[in-house]
Amino acid sequence: MLIRTATCDEMLALWEYADFKSASPTARFFYNNISSGNAVFWTTEDNGKLISELYVFRNLDDKDFANGADRAYLCAFRVKKEYRGRGIGTALIKEVMTSLKSEGIKTVTIGVAPDETDNVRLYRRLGFNDKIKDCFFDPCAMDENMNPKPDELFWLLAKEL
Ligand SMILES: CC(C)(COP(=O)(O)OP(=O)(O)OC[C@H]1O[C@@H](n2cnc3c(N)ncnc32)[C@H](O)[C@@H]1OP(=O)(O)O)[C@@H](O)C(=O)NCCC(=O)NCCS
Repeated sequence: MLIRTATCDEMLALWEYADFKSASPTARFFYNNISSGNAVFWTTEDNGKLISELYVFRNLDDKDFANGADRAYLCAFRVKKEYRGRGIGTALIKEVMTSLKSEGIKTVTIGVAPDETDNVRLYRRLGFNDKIKDCFFDPCAMDENMNPKPDELFWLLAKEL
């Protein structure tokens, strides 16, 4: 298995959109941020197939998430169902954090709903021990007008690298 960065077109294909025009507002937001260099798409490739995804945003309007300098936001962390529970997600997020540290990022943030107890446990184990705040908007999930969509309560957690 190979952990690597991937392109905005690979993201669209993974999200099963034929092209940019037919993509959802959120998919277009991710696409534009990856192509401008403000976001990086990381994945695990297994026999030519992308089986995981994790996105790094460098700068967002809400600087508690990502400040364009030394704080980056991790989001849309997924491993394909049939591959879960085998350490693939842990390996991916660790490699991404190592890479971020080497480029000078000091803090990484991640969002999690308090009732997703498996995910909360996973993030605590990975060292996301600081709770920054309660959030009700996901800064990377967009409505039709490209404004952040209201969300169920989630916690913004942080880890010092
Ligand atoms: C969260 C996720 C990316 C972890 O990837 P993974 O490859 O399964 O993770 P690992 O094998 O490295 O670690 C397993 C841990 O993930 C957590 N986990 C969360 N959902 C899980 C699932 N459906 N199956 C297995 N583990 C899961 C568990 O806490 C497990 O830790 P445990 O051993 O203490 O139970 C993956 O489970 C997933 O894609 N879940 C659905 C999407 C999601 O909830 N993303 C996070 C949004 S905050």
